[in-house]
Amino acid sequence: MSFTFNFPNPDAAENERTEDRMITEKSDDDDTVEDFKEIHITSRNLDNAVRQTYQISETLHVDVLDRDVVEKQLCEKTGSVCGVKEAAGQHSDLIPNVYEGGLTVWECSLDLAKYLDSCPDSLAGKTVLELGCGAGIPGIVAIKHGASLLHFQDYNPEVMEHYTIPSVLLNNNGHSCKCRYFSGDWARFRSHMLSENMKYDTILTAETIYKPINYSKLTNMFKDFLSKNGVVYVAAKSNYFGVGGSSRGFEDFINKDGTFEIRVCLTLEAGVPREILQLKWKNV
Ligand SMILES: C[S@@+](CC[C@H](N)C(=O)[O-])C[C@H]1O[C@@H](n2cnc3c(N)ncnc32)[C@H](O)[C@@H]1O
Repeated sequence: MSFTFNFPNPDAAENERTEDRMITEKSDDDDTVEDFKEIHITSRNLDNAVRQTYQISETLHVDVLDRDVVEKQLCEKTGSVCGVKEAAGQHSDLIPNVYEGGLTVWECSLDLAKYLDSCPDSLAGKTVLELGCGAGIPGIVAIKHGASLLHFQDYNPEVMEHYTIPSVLLNNNGHSCKCRYFSGDWARFRSHMLSENMKYDTILTAETIYKPINYSKLTNMFKDFLSKNGVVYVAAKSNYFGVGGSSRGFEDFINKDGTFEIRVCLTLEAGVPREILQLKWKNV
């Protein structure tokens, strides 16, 4: 069974692909989710790569690959089956459990990138995880601010391989940050990473709380992977119309769970207001 519904985004900035955004709804059965994969790519020839530049502040910009070029390349790859191709064929920007929207720069990732750039908390030397990274712009800003380790995670392996990794490589010149790249559903990511006993000082995530059914998957990762004095930043719209997610709904979920303190550190007024939420361990 499938159906589509609108995902309105009335406050789009010029660079962001927001027009005609649709979500195609599918089943949420855990058997159907994308499996865990670590993708090992450390270099790529990007001399002729078509890129888009996002100005984060007067002195800091981030280059990412052009998403339309990447989508075209993936769709033209003969014999390949992937979520991006399926979504493009359906003119859909998000098909749950098939393609989760990573091949687009969404507004809140830019909000988070700008917030991190101006944030008083230093990222120098920090270990950072970006969940649901897409292009990975907040993570890239963390690298530029001296993070020592950055783990990028996205649902779709083709997004990670053809969009996230090249985009990180475009920006990682002269930085000594150790990067790793993972794809797959959060539940699968969590069970694999538990064996590494990894803890992060900072966990970043933007535009990932649109589906309430995923709140426990996200929160479980915060519980397992956030260091004792660590901080999580969640950048999100106040409402994801038609899909059920919202900042207040997520805040209620966190407050009922009781493990973390949650506060709004930034509100951006817009047609649909946007926020940056900060989570810290309650009893530290
Ligand atoms: C709307 S996109 C946001 C991408 C990027 N953070 C941005 O703001 O531009 C949602 C992201 O959440 C991730 N995501 C959503 N559901 C997921 C799940 N169940 N498991 C893993 N990742 C998921 C996908 O990787 C996707 O890139």
